[in-house]
Amino acid sequence: MTKISFILNDKPRVTDVDPKMSLLKYLRGKDYLKGTKNGCGTGHCGACTILLNGKPVRSCITPMERVQDGTVLTIEGLANGDQLHPIQKAFLDVGAIQCGFCTPGMILATKALLDQNPHPTIDDICQALKHNYCRCTGYVKIIEAVLLAAARMRNEEPSVEEVRCFESSVIVKGQNVPELPPISGKVLGQSIWDTDGVKKATGSLRFCDDIEFPDMVYGAFVWSGITRGKIIHFDDSEALAMPGVLRVIKAEDVPGDNHYGTFNQEQEIFCIEEVHFISDMLALVVAETMEQARAAAQKVKVEYEPLPGLYTIKEALDAEAVIGTSSRQVGDLEQAKKKSTVVVNGEYKIERVEHGCMEPESAIGYALADGAVIYTTTQSPFEIRRMLASILNLPEEKIRVIATPLGGGFGSKCDAHIESAAAVAGYVMKRPVKITLTRQESMYLSTKRHAFETDFTIGVDAEGKLQFLDAKLYSDAGPYNNLSVAVLQQASIFAGGPYVIPNVNVQGKALRTNNVLGGAFRGFGINQSAISIETLLDEAAEKLGMDPFEIRKINALKIGTRTVGGELLKQSVGISDTIELCKRHTQKAMEAYKGLYPQGSKVLGVGVASGFKNVGVGRGNRDDGGCILTRETDGRVTMHASGVDMGQGFRTAMMQILAEALDISTDQINLVSSDTAKTLFHGQAVSERQTLNTGRAVVEAAKLLKKRIEEHGDTPIDAPITVEYAFSAPQTYGLEDAEGRKEAGDDYRNYPSYAYTTQAAIIELDTDTGEVKVLKVIAAHDTGRVINPHIVEGQIEGSCSMGIGYALREQFPSVDGIPNKKYYGQLELPTIDETPQYDIILVEDPEPIGPFGAKGISEVATVPMTPAVLNAIYNAAGIRIRNLPATPENILEHIKLKKQTSEHHND
Ligand code: FES
Ligand code: FES
Repeated sequence: MTKISFILNDKPRVTDVDPKMSLLKYLRGKDYLKGTKNGCGTGHCGACTILLNGKPVRSCITPMERVQDGTVLTIEGLANGDQLHPIQKAFLDVGAIQCGFCTPGMILATKALLDQNPHPTIDDICQALKHNYCRCTGYVKIIEAVLLAAARMRNEEPSVEEVRCFESSVIVKGQNVPELPPISGKVLGQSIWDTDGVKKATGSLRFCDDIEFPDMVYGAFVWSGITRGKIIHFDDSEALAMPGVLRVIKAEDVPGDNHYGTFNQEQEIFCIEEVHFISDMLALVVAETMEQARAAAQKVKVEYEPLPGLYTIKEALDAEAVIGTSSRQVGDLEQAKKKSTVVVNGEYKIERVEHGCMEPESAIGYALADGAVIYTTTQSPFEIRRMLASILNLPEEKIRVIATPLGGGFGSKCDAHIESAAAVAGYVMKRPVKITLTRQESMYLSTKRHAFETDFTIGVDAEGKLQFLDAKLYSDAGPYNNLSVAVLQQASIFAGGPYVIPNVNVQGKALRTNNVLGGAFRGFGINQSAISIETLLDEAAEKLGMDPFEIRKINALKIGTRTVGGELLKQSVGISDTIELCKRHTQKAMEAYKGLYPQGSKVLGVGVASGFKNVGVGRGNRDDGGCILTRETDGRVTMHASGVDMGQGFRTAMMQILAEALDISTDQINLVSSDTAKTLFHGQAVSERQTLNTGRAVVEAAKLLKKRIEEHGDTPIDAPITVEYAFSAPQTYGLEDAEGRKEAGDDYRNYPSYAYTTQAAIIELDTDTGEVKVLKVIAAHDTGRVINPHIVEGQIEGSCSMGIGYALREQFPSVDGIPNKKYYGQLELPTIDETPQYDIILVEDPEPIGPFGAKGISEVATVPMTPAVLNAIYNAAGIRIRNLPATPENILEHIKLKKQTSEHHND
């Protein structure tokens, strides 16, 4: 121990600590300053950034001895009481905060920059912030927030519009679009601050790992560490003798079923006989501190008899290791081939991808006298509750699941991961038990966007009309069926893109391997299909000498046409408008770039792709939302809204909808969400369903409340009035539900609604290095009613950033089931210096069942961006990349092959 003296947030501090202890651990532990976040613990993500002597440092790799006699500023020391610092205010004003997990580090890195450089250029900003990742925003609004803060700190007063140098957006009415339901526009349609934004900007929002209870203990897993083997010996004696260790919890301690899974409970909580992938769990070591638990978990000895595993899609296909299938056949393919002037085929190999949420998974379980409470980083509170009932052997109503604010989700937190172990540990220990994964544990355990291999063939006639689609899809599920079959089904329904295709054969298989798990990820299987269909459609257009926008327009779905799934579309189909508007804006944008290229080895390319995505989980599942409203005696309204916010703006949107529906200000609303004990039942926070379903429930509950208030007339209201509304979207059917298809006739639908989009990417490609830079994105979206423009723009920019990363760099490969990436920095996620310009066009084509005509936005924007970039690469260099990602090495290899082929032809 060493005495360390320093100034912390303007106050002198003297402490006796281990000089090697990280500053992050000191701040979060000893000083309970939880605003500084732990995103990786290894110096890669920037979430833990604080200022030491005015300079930004990563507190997770800064030892306390470096702080001696220094000055430390954390996010808690930035605001002046209730008075936000201009940087915090600027982040809120431009909408630069989504989940908020990166925000404290980002704001402090900005302060360091602006203290040194009051007039930063965009390059200066990108240099200063390029080591701070944000997985949500795509960085556009962060750059603009820094510019706004800089101007205000110079005592200038530019408007938010004046600093929008990286984006423009317009809201337009499409052709033949019905009138939107009337609104006052006082709050709805305005870019109000994020409801929890002040807490996020000041670091006071409590994420799961920030929560402490007085008698809390900590759990660390004993992982399999191998990819397949029979357990022949387990020895925890040394671990049990380690300091602070209280217990090693194993399968025999589970009071009920020792299996977990959000829907399919087939994964053992603690393996008994065999392990099936690198992150199967054998036990949980519980100790007084997290460090003690982790140290002891390393000392548990497990001997295995290794067993052969399956590590590629081909191996799994050969072994017939099929978890589930999908199938859809319509029309006559042979006849359609005869009618096709152009037939194109492509085999695609698409790597798995990590979500890269800034917040690792965390859960706290504790037992009550006759029940249990779980705090957890989940998108699925009610599904987790159902799962835990069988694990804890308790009735569902005795279990309370609280979904803590999520530091990013993107689908990764809709599968169950560590909740079961935390709940069992709380039950066994009769004390709160917290488990928080390290970044590497999170990367190895959490589900990934599935690796897919596809084989697509399409045929088009001389006019460019699609005649047929013949598609095979194979996905690598890992060893357990989390949501793999559902993802495959969805990939199949959307295999034909947003187009009318009269003859279809789609066959899919989800395969069981011993790789890391596949699961939900923004787009839910549609992305892999979109890569295949959208690049082939481009190829077909080229062969016909047709404009790529035109071929999409000719085939676009319309009201009265059917999807590949067989659904007759009856309302809110905005795809044609998005194609037309994207075309117009892209042509205009290209005028500015054309004259600038080529620049030496750098060439220009432009690519387009369209997409559509379900709003609502559909496929025969319930799509529901709920709202309980209480008019308090002081006139305020308390809203219990069913849903989970993971940074996508759910809570803010619900506030705006209620404010509009009741004609009140958002200041008059108290909002409660994400708690199974306090809200009506709702399904997972997935599939862009919450705005539609819960938003509708809010509107209906508001009508009930208004009626009840009106009934009071002039009588003073002296007791709270409570109303509730549970909304269920219209019945949907699964792809292969033949009975439902017959019964429903033209009312057969796969999903409650759809969102449509067309996006273009303008890129610069260096033919010497293979490097691609996306210069500009043009994104035209049919979102239905726009509830909050900043939120919608932020969702599009964040999603496009993910789509670009997926096209160019991101991958999570493994060798024989062992991932070759351990650190956040190895994920190669987009950084701030790669931010393209955005031109966003929002077409408000109202959805009748949505609140005030709204639909959803958070996922669909990922869908076309990846194929748009791939098409732009072709446009720039004449190479078709079908093995993703299109890394510089991959691009150079393709350029080399193209050269060799053309030389061969010339010989
Ligand atoms: S937590 Fe320190 S850099 Fe990630
Ligand atoms: S807002 Fe930046 S990581 Fe979520």
